[in-house]
Amino acid sequence: MIFYFSGTGNSRGIAEIVAGRLGDRAVNMIGADPLAYEGKDAYLGFVFPVYAYAAPEVMLKFAGRIAPGNAYTFAIATFSNVTGEALEHFSSVLPLRSGYGIKMPDNYPVLNKILDTKESTLQKLREAKPRLEYVIGRLLAKAEEIDTLRGEDAHRRTYELAPQFNERMRVTGPFWVEKDRCVGCGACEKMCPAGAIRLREGYPVWEKPDCYACMACLNRCPKEAIQFGEYSKGKFRYFFKGFDTERYFKEDT
Ligand SMILES: Cc1cc2nc3c(=O)[nH]c(=O)nc-3n(C[C@H](O)[C@H](O)[C@H](O)COP(=O)(O)O)c2cc1C
Ligand code: SF4
Ligand code: SF4
Repeated sequence: MIFYFSGTGNSRGIAEIVAGRLGDRAVNMIGADPLAYEGKDAYLGFVFPVYAYAAPEVMLKFAGRIAPGNAYTFAIATFSNVTGEALEHFSSVLPLRSGYGIKMPDNYPVLNKILDTKESTLQKLREAKPRLEYVIGRLLAKAEEIDTLRGEDAHRRTYELAPQFNERMRVTGPFWVEKDRCVGCGACEKMCPAGAIRLREGYPVWEKPDCYACMACLNRCPKEAIQFGEYSKGKFRYFFKGFDTERYFKEDT
């Protein structure tokens, strides 16, 4: 069984490809019951985006309630820059036999750093494909290792900055909608894994004060009507559409 958490599809896409190659199943951990996991599988995998140098808190809480049995446990962290010690930290919650980072396009166009261009997004997708093949080979070999790009100051970033992010940065206050673009389709409400959005009079309202900060609503709104503060205005949106880069950033996608 491979559990994933994903806002903009990088982790979901990778979980599904890996599951296909391992002859296993990819399951969205949102809505799954960790206590129902029976621990009888050959593989127990977790795929998630790195948020502030750690796994998303919701994924850590889920993993902490799973009894892994005798499965070969692994995690894949998708990230846009560096992972810090996200995989080591995850392993302290659910002991991993292996952990891999796969660099993927950035989905957080709300800061003035770690921002991909359209060109670097496509380049990352081209480089991620062989990296994924390599990782699948290591999983089939049931390797025992952690292999990722930790970056500088990794330990402090994971153990000091991730808690600060979870406490202060996962707020919904800065989200707003450009009403002249929004068509009231309700996709944002449906896709929000935190159940934080409700449509009121045809427009999204962020009803909960905090969320997972997954950026699904902002990146996947078909009209690019959702903004986070001012910085996201005019920035291109990204979500995973497969490794075939011809499909990205065209009018019809
Ligand atoms: C709130 C937030 C925090 C992030 N923090 C990091 C980070 O610390 N390091 C990094 O390399 N990428 C970071 N990213 C980028 C994502 O990890 C990356 O784009 C990931 O592949 C997205 O996965 P998804 O498409 O499955 O949601 C962050 C993204 C978000 C939304
Ligand atoms: S997804 Fe976009 S267009 Fe659809 S209701 Fe939400 S904000 Fe409006
Ligand atoms: S409000 Fe947006 S960013 Fe927050 S969890 Fe929902 S979809 Fe993700």
